[in-house]
Amino acid sequence: MFKRIDYYAGDPILGLMDKFFADPNPNKVNLGIGIYYDEVGEMPVLDCVKVAEQRIADPIAPRPYLPMAGLPGHRKACQDLLFGKEAQALQENCIATIATIGGSGALKVGAEFIHEWFPQSKCYVSDPTWSNHIAIFAGCDIEVGSYPYYDNATSSLKFDEMIDFFEKLNKYDVVLLHPCCHNPTGMDLTQAQWDTVLDVIKQRELIPFMDIAYQGFGQDMDSDAYAIRKAVDMNLPLFVSNSFSKNLSLYGERVGGLSVVCPSADEAERVFGQLNFTVRRIYTSPPSHGGHVVDIVMNDELLNQQWVSEVYGMRDRIKTMRLTLKSVLETKLPKLNFDYITRQNGMFSFTGLTPQQVEQLQSEFGVYMVSNSRMCVAGLNDSNVDYVANAMAEVLKA
Ligand code: LMR
Repeated sequence: MFKRIDYYAGDPILGLMDKFFADPNPNKVNLGIGIYYDEVGEMPVLDCVKVAEQRIADPIAPRPYLPMAGLPGHRKACQDLLFGKEAQALQENCIATIATIGGSGALKVGAEFIHEWFPQSKCYVSDPTWSNHIAIFAGCDIEVGSYPYYDNATSSLKFDEMIDFFEKLNKYDVVLLHPCCHNPTGMDLTQAQWDTVLDVIKQRELIPFMDIAYQGFGQDMDSDAYAIRKAVDMNLPLFVSNSFSKNLSLYGERVGGLSVVCPSADEAERVFGQLNFTVRRIYTSPPSHGGHVVDIVMNDELLNQQWVSEVYGMRDRIKTMRLTLKSVLETKLPKLNFDYITRQNGMFSFTGLTPQQVEQLQSEFGVYMVSNSRMCVAGLNDSNVDYVANAMAEVLKA
C-alpha cells in the first residue's frame, strides 16, 4: 500500500547537521545550518532571555491554549520591531499580525492565504534563495519561478536583470524578497536599489512578500527593516514573515510572525480573520513558551535594550570573523580576490566553491557547508578560523 510513496531525499540544510554530528573527525567544523555559535562554539542563551525564563518559571503558571493568532504581546513585538513603534499604519490598525511557528510557519500561513485568495498569483523567488522558500510555496500549489539575483562569476548582484524581470511580471504576482542578510548569498540591495525595486513593484501592482529572519545582524535593527518601512510608506500591500530564531537565539522554540499590511483597517480585520482561520485549520494555535519569552524581552524597555546590544555583539563577532577569514585566505592565495567575504552581510557567505570543492572540504577536512557553497560565518571562531581558511585554500589550489 505504501510502496508507491517516494523516498524523501532529506533536507539540504538539516540533513547536513545529521552528517556533521555523525562525523568522527575531531577537527570538524559546522558551517552549514544558519545558527549563531559564540566564540567558544556554543549556542548562546541570551542574558535577556535568561531573565525572561526566570519570570516565566516563578510561579509556574497553567498552560491554556493561546489564541489562534498567539499572544498579543508577541504580536505587538513583531509589529514594533518590523514597522517601528510610531508607524502610522499601526496607529490606524492597518496591519494584521499573527504570531507563528517560526519563520517557516509564517511563510506557510502566508502562502496558504495567497493560494486561497489570489489563486492566479505565481510566486517568484531570488536565484538563489533559501531552499525552503520554494518548498513551502510549491507545497501550497503555487507556481514558483525565480528572478535573477546573484552573479556567481562576479560575486555581485544582477540588479538590472532583476528589475527587467520584475517589469514583465503580472498584476498580483508575488515577489519574495529578503530585506536584509540575504540567504544564502549575504548580498543585500542598497537603499537606493530598494527604492527602485519598490517603484517597479508599485507600478506593476505586484505583491511583495518580505522574509526577514536576520534583523539586527546586517547593519542595525532599523536599517535592516528599511525595505519594509519604505514599502509601508509607499502604501504598498505587503506580507512580512519574521523569525526570532536567530536574533533571540530561540531556534527550537519556533517563534516568528506573519504581518499583512493592508490599505485600510477594515481590510486588515478581514485578513486577520482569514489568517486565524488558516491557523485553525493547520495547527489551531502556536505554542506558548517561546511566545512568552518574546513578549517579556521585547516589551520590557530595559530587557529590549539589553537584547539589542546582545544582537549587535553577535553581529560584530561575525564581522570580525569575516575579516579574519578574508585576511588568511588573501595571504595563502594572493592571486585570488576574497573581497566578497566582507561585502556580504549577516550569517552567510556565498563562497562560490563548486559542489566538488564543498564535498572535498567535508570529506578531507570535516568542514561542512551547504552544497550551494553557502558558509555560515557564525560557526567560525578564533580556534577554527585558521583551520577553515587553510582547508579552503587547499581546496581552491587543487
Ligand atoms: C538556514 O537557512 O540554515 C536556517 O534558516 C535553518 C533552516 O531551517 O534551514
